[in-house]
Amino acid sequence: MIVVPGSSNRLFAYRLSKALSADYVETEISKFPDGETHIRIPKLEKRAVVVQSLCHHPNQYLMEFVIICDALAGKGCDHIIGVLPYLAYARQDSEFTPGEAVSLLGVAKVIEDFCDEVITVDMHLHRYKKIKDVFLKGKNVSAAGLVGDCLKKKKLRNPMVIGPDEESEQWASQIASKIGCEWDIFIKKRISPEKIRLIPKKADVKGRDVVIYDDIISTGGTMAETIKVVKELGAKRVIAACTHAILAGTAQTKIFNAGAESIIATDTVPSPFSSVSAVSSVEEVII
Ligand code: R5P
Repeated sequence: MIVVPGSSNRLFAYRLSKALSADYVETEISKFPDGETHIRIPKLEKRAVVVQSLCHHPNQYLMEFVIICDALAGKGCDHIIGVLPYLAYARQDSEFTPGEAVSLLGVAKVIEDFCDEVITVDMHLHRYKKIKDVFLKGKNVSAAGLVGDCLKKKKLRNPMVIGPDEESEQWASQIASKIGCEWDIFIKKRISPEKIRLIPKKADVKGRDVVIYDDIISTGGTMAETIKVVKELGAKRVIAACTHAILAGTAQTKIFNAGAESIIATDTVPSPFSSVSAVSSVEEVII
């Protein structure tokens, strides 16, 4: 078996190859002067794992993924496992305003057309509840437990885990059971892609160390607002944690300005805060 990376997250691919005892094949990826993508894969095997996180430049990385998978199939690879540690477009899972594309479905069709299995981590399953509703041959694994293990080692005083919205319940509860503490969730209303509002709610965070966990930190709006609320309610230390640290634009400073002590994330998306590796959760489901 070989592990073949796109250019978005070579470190995740390398770590996965080590975990699988498979060969890591360094792809050569460049751009033609007109912006088209050129890819060379110097080694081939019958079975390949193609790793591409659709973060930061999702359209470009999706195209790399398609070109790599198609090239492998054309050269005799007969089983391709697509590993998308971060799957973009999952939040565009409904026609929110008339005429709007449900992008998740189109993107999923493209991905599934080019590989035999799809594996992703903490996919944003909201309006579609199960991965099989989106990918027939898909597996969704969670890295929240691994983040929970990391948080357990920190000396948190009277900790409490908070999820910023209803979808985050699954992760907040997982993290809390690892730490061995209480958890609660807020209710969020999204006003615009950058702005959210939390419905006022009492949470028993006064004087406690609080971990806020979300699947994705994108613009940082959700996390920053949740930090402000728990601080107003009297939280002592606040740790912002997530699986996918996209951290678009000024997200980092927004989060620290709001009062977070630190950010903890996994390596599904490369970032200065990706201290927890999600590789073991993916490796476990590759047979
Ligand atoms: C959406 O509901 C997700 O779970 C996250 O809460 C959201 O993607 C965070 O986005 P942002 O950082 O832009 O507020």
